[in-house]
Amino acid sequence: MTDIPTLERTLIGAVAAAADEAALEAVRVSALGKKGSVSELLKTLGAMTPDERREKGPLINGLRDRVNAAIAERKAALEETALAARLAAERVDVTLPLQEGPQTRGRIHPISQVIDELTAIFADMGFSIAEGPDIETDFYNFTALNFPAGHPARDMHDTFFLPPDDKGERKVLRTHTSPVQIRTMLGQKPPIRVIIPGRTYRCDSDQTHTPMFHQVEGLVIDKSSHIGHLKWILEEFCKAFFEVDQVKMRFRPSFFPFTEPSAEVDIQCARKGGEIRFGEGEDWLEILGCGMVHPNVLRNCGLDPDEYQGFAWGMGIDRIAMLKYGMPDLRPFFEADVRWLSHYGFRPLDLPTLAGGLSS
Ligand code: DAH
Repeated sequence: MTDIPTLERTLIGAVAAAADEAALEAVRVSALGKKGSVSELLKTLGAMTPDERREKGPLINGLRDRVNAAIAERKAALEETALAARLAAERVDVTLPLQEGPQTRGRIHPISQVIDELTAIFADMGFSIAEGPDIETDFYNFTALNFPAGHPARDMHDTFFLPPDDKGERKVLRTHTSPVQIRTMLGQKPPIRVIIPGRTYRCDSDQTHTPMFHQVEGLVIDKSSHIGHLKWILEEFCKAFFEVDQVKMRFRPSFFPFTEPSAEVDIQCARKGGEIRFGEGEDWLEILGCGMVHPNVLRNCGLDPDEYQGFAWGMGIDRIAMLKYGMPDLRPFFEADVRWLSHYGFRPLDLPTLAGGLSS
């Protein structure tokens, strides 16, 4: 017959030594499972004489009860330790600031935002959008716009030329958005009222010039549009864009081969300590060129200048973005620095609308 006190010591020792719930379960099976040591002892009761059973019964049942109790107690202790460890490992500091998800961390580039803003303004005035390719032929970029071959006006633009193709033709990176005027007039009949936002390229770089920059061209062609309409549109645009009641603009007579008469427009600003501020000071920043479309340009597009007339303008998008949002230098626009973008960029769902406020 097994020595009950020894078996009890061994089992209670094993229970105490079980390091986790799996080890404890193994001890339980070895003692109280079908073939466990205590179960085997219980089975011997059946073959005993009544006297023996009266003596051994309470001993074996007592053993079973104490082992059961020890296991239950150890199990509770192990569960508590496991829970405490989990709570410590999964501890959350609710006072920490929320981590923004990628969809809220992302920012819209100021150029994209400004293009959306000016699109909203001109769309409200009844303009539609036209686009053209960044790589242009000499015809669209110069010839059709009334730049005569070899004329010094072609040197006004520091043009990037592509290597000549098989036919010896040298394409260019468009130096302005004006070639899309030609594409538009060749592609649709007046009345025409379009704006043409897009990338333009010139070999130039300083605080307010980059080799790639952005313009928005405007073109209005019908039978009666005149320079008064042009002035009104530009003034209304500037007021809406800069979100002010009055803007100080200056129209200076100028020259462009594709307009006659031509003007350049400056907007009042302050340039102090490397900063450009809109709406104060006595400095002027040139933001656009404009004029009445030259009769030769109309003819080049198959329109009769005795029947049709109109006006056009080309505005620097980067310049008006710098002015509106107080950015001192144009070059970081194109450096893809996320620190700059998170400072100057716009939240993805802040879509500019005239009704909702352009930049709020
Ligand atoms: N294309 C000119 C430039 O980039 C700007 C310009 C001037 C555009 C007069 C026009 C215009 O449409 O009428 O310097």
